[in-house]
Amino acid sequence: MLNFIVNNKEVKTDTPSGSSLVDFIRNELHLYGTKIGCREGDCGACTILVGEIKDGELKYQTMNSCLMPLGNANHKHIVTIEGINCPELTSVQAAILDNNGTQCGFCTPGFVMSFYGFCLNADKEKNLENAIEAISGNICRCTGYKSLEKAAAAVVSKLQSMPGAEAMAWLVKNNFLPDYFMDIPGKLKKITPSKPVAVQESGYIIAGGTDILLQNPEGAIESGNLNLVYGASAYSRIKFTDGKCYIGSTTTIKDLKESLELRKYIPKLEGYLKLMASTPIRNMATVGGNIANSSPIGDVCVILMAFDSTLVLRHKGETREIKLKDFLIGYKKVNKEPEEFIEWIYFDLPDENTHFSYEKISKRGHLDMATANSAMRVVLADGVITKASFVVGALGPTIRYLEKTSAYLLGKKISNQTFQEANRIAQGEITPRSRAEYKRSLVRQQLFIHLMNFSPGTISLEALK
Ligand SMILES: Cc1cc2nc3c(=O)[nH]c(=O)nc-3n(C[C@H](O)[C@H](O)[C@H](O)COP(=O)(O)OP(=O)(O)OC[C@H]3O[C@@H](n4cnc5c(N)ncnc54)[C@H](O)[C@@H]3O)c2cc1C
Ligand code: FES
Ligand code: FES
Repeated sequence: MLNFIVNNKEVKTDTPSGSSLVDFIRNELHLYGTKIGCREGDCGACTILVGEIKDGELKYQTMNSCLMPLGNANHKHIVTIEGINCPELTSVQAAILDNNGTQCGFCTPGFVMSFYGFCLNADKEKNLENAIEAISGNICRCTGYKSLEKAAAAVVSKLQSMPGAEAMAWLVKNNFLPDYFMDIPGKLKKITPSKPVAVQESGYIIAGGTDILLQNPEGAIESGNLNLVYGASAYSRIKFTDGKCYIGSTTTIKDLKESLELRKYIPKLEGYLKLMASTPIRNMATVGGNIANSSPIGDVCVILMAFDSTLVLRHKGETREIKLKDFLIGYKKVNKEPEEFIEWIYFDLPDENTHFSYEKISKRGHLDMATANSAMRVVLADGVITKASFVVGALGPTIRYLEKTSAYLLGKKISNQTFQEANRIAQGEITPRSRAEYKRSLVRQQLFIHLMNFSPGTISLEALK
């Protein structure tokens, strides 16, 4: 039996854990304010807030309820658009209305909830950039985004006097949230078990559900033995030990993106991951899911493969290790038993001679899969490449580690000639299936940009002529 809170009511249900939260909200609770636009995580009409107690504190983040498995709501506070209503228009609702941010209104509940995700996120500075980032997963076909950007600015301005501590009390007092929010921590503590989420030894693995529920639009994983691993405390963390970085498989993309420790080694990581999906998807999606779904465009997978990462897998009590590049064997095919669980992904921590570069080209900045993505890691000693790995995505059934190109680069200095020869070899290693000429030109340009990033003074645009 699942037990959670929706708005100000406690809910207990036997509805299957693998069904979609939006269907439960609409069909069983008859809360119709949460809309279904695409059921694919693309439009944000179904955005809700999910609150849970972490390290003794109640924290909220936005999620797309169309792709959220109901089981992932267990012991949490789910807030729908109905749950933020106050006797008068709330400060967020008023900001949208005053700036003409709504016409047909279908997308509006999603925008409102995303703005609430911004208001309630204590870690984010209350500036316009972060407010707009919070609505990166919401699409409106009517108003144009300028009015919503103005609404974002109005929300930011209203939040300027919010204190760092006791933020919830301030939000209640200033007509952002209804009074009942003050009782939620106590209510959640009562229904939260003392034992944290643990990974089972068997069962169909579901993490964030952003891939599984997308593949099964009717929320089809409704029966059978499920292994719900989202938030598993043992693997929702990143640790640094013996010169290696270990990323727990249930770490979310959001936590990976915001890891200050990891940024010391991969300084541009936040910028790279900002290009992945949208805020609510990143709050749900996990690193293990990005690897196990073996999509040819997996952003995290491309980055981790360039670090020559190793996976630690567990099955029936036994663990084994395999290189990520040997794990992906085809389109949505991986080298593992169906119920085998990825525990960790680890790689050697880069030293000061290691250089890393990631490039993604997509039609839109947010919510778009890569048309081409690639990553390169080199170690330079006195300008000579002593280690190299070049990984490309979006070119065929699976992400590819270009062995011959990587091997060619060893012992070379970065120059126009090195680029041209590396490109010749890379072109021989790739077999784009569609728009071949275009994709080949993207690989060439990305290879150039990587080498340029590593050694701007020794390679020039002449090399591209
Ligand atoms: C709108 C939208 C936009 C997206 N944009 C991007 C994008 O820009 N870039 C990108 O790379 N991806 C993108 N994705 C794909 C997806 O969000 C990611 O691949 C995500 O990381 C999957 O993680 P998850 O936890 O949701 O996986 P789930 O859906 O829970 O699981 C996916 C698969 O992995 C298996 N699995 C999950 N965890 C484990 C584990 N620890 N061990 C073994 N097997 C496991 C599951 O059984 C399932 O087969 C997007 C998805 C959506 C819906
Ligand atoms: S319905 Fe479009 S993101 Fe959920
Ligand atoms: S107001 Fe109509 S889709 Fe946004």
